[in-house]
Amino acid sequence: MSPAHTVPIFRRLLPAAADAVDGGDAVDLAAAYAYPADLDRPWVRANMVASADGGAWGPSGRTRELSSPADRAVMGVLRGLADVVLAGAGTARIEGYRPIRPRPAWRELRAGRPAAPPVAVVTRTLDLQPGLLAEAPGGSRTIVLTTESAPAHRRAAAAEHAEVVVVGREAVRAEAALAALAERGLYRVLTEGGPHLLAELAAAGRTDELCLTLSPRLLGPASGRIVAGGVPSHPQDLRLGHVLESDGSLFLRYVREPEPEATATGSGHRR
Ligand SMILES: NC(=O)c1ccc[n+]([C@@H]2O[C@H](COP(=O)([O-])OP(=O)(O)OC[C@H]3O[C@@H](n4cnc5c(N)ncnc54)[C@H](OP(=O)(O)O)[C@@H]3O)[C@@H](O)[C@H]2O)c1
Repeated sequence: MSPAHTVPIFRRLLPAAADAVDGGDAVDLAAAYAYPADLDRPWVRANMVASADGGAWGPSGRTRELSSPADRAVMGVLRGLADVVLAGAGTARIEGYRPIRPRPAWRELRAGRPAAPPVAVVTRTLDLQPGLLAEAPGGSRTIVLTTESAPAHRRAAAAEHAEVVVVGREAVRAEAALAALAERGLYRVLTEGGPHLLAELAAAGRTDELCLTLSPRLLGPASGRIVAGGVPSHPQDLRLGHVLESDGSLFLRYVREPEPEATATGSGHRR
């Protein structure tokens, strides 16, 4: 199969071509998903996928039944744009996270930055696959955001390869985690969930953007939602940024409304 056949075709449904950032008919994913310029605090973009009836994982317990070549293409561009990929340990374990490998297509997107974004994983137990810690490419060491209560021997073992950052006593607080990333100059944050971590970020008012793939499948009531857990939250309004379509999947980009004010966090680096 020629590479051209593997490139999914996107249609822009909203906004109309005349109002779109990339102007023409072809969808430029890097332009459509560009982060705001001159960030002076971490901007948190969540990338999640759901079935048409709201399910967040398929019968396998993973998201693969919901994904598609187009979804993977968007995920690839979002990772290429990001300074760091933030994930909960549940997602890292279940989805088999490994360090992100550089892609030739990212060369321009990542000029002046490491060839691939590091993974930052949030965990109390530090029950993580060794490869996620040990196999990261140079300049993109995995970051482990954990708690004082985490087992000391696991913290020490993880620190042999990864950067271990203690950002809470019993739980990693969303604000503290983002401040730790900001201290490392990591402002363009892409969180890939999972549902517990996303709920905590949202409850802290730190989900600036939600990129939601709606997949053309019904999963029924066995599947959970893209947010989970007992953390209290309040309703938040979102503004629709764009809608793309590919092979029946919808790619919705929502931004928190009113747009959160840019306030300094951490070292205040500007990127
Ligand atoms: N639809 C989607 O887009 C999507 C995206 C991602 C995942 N998923 C699915 O979601 C499921 C996993 O869900 P999940 O909610 O368990 O995933 P998760 O949020 O990635 O992981 C939960 C785990 O993250 C750690 N954690 C979260 N908040 C923490 C905090 N404040 N302090 C310290 N550690 C914290 C804990 O890890 P420890 O247990 O190590 O302490 C906790 O058990 C899987 O089926 C996956 O396929 C779906």
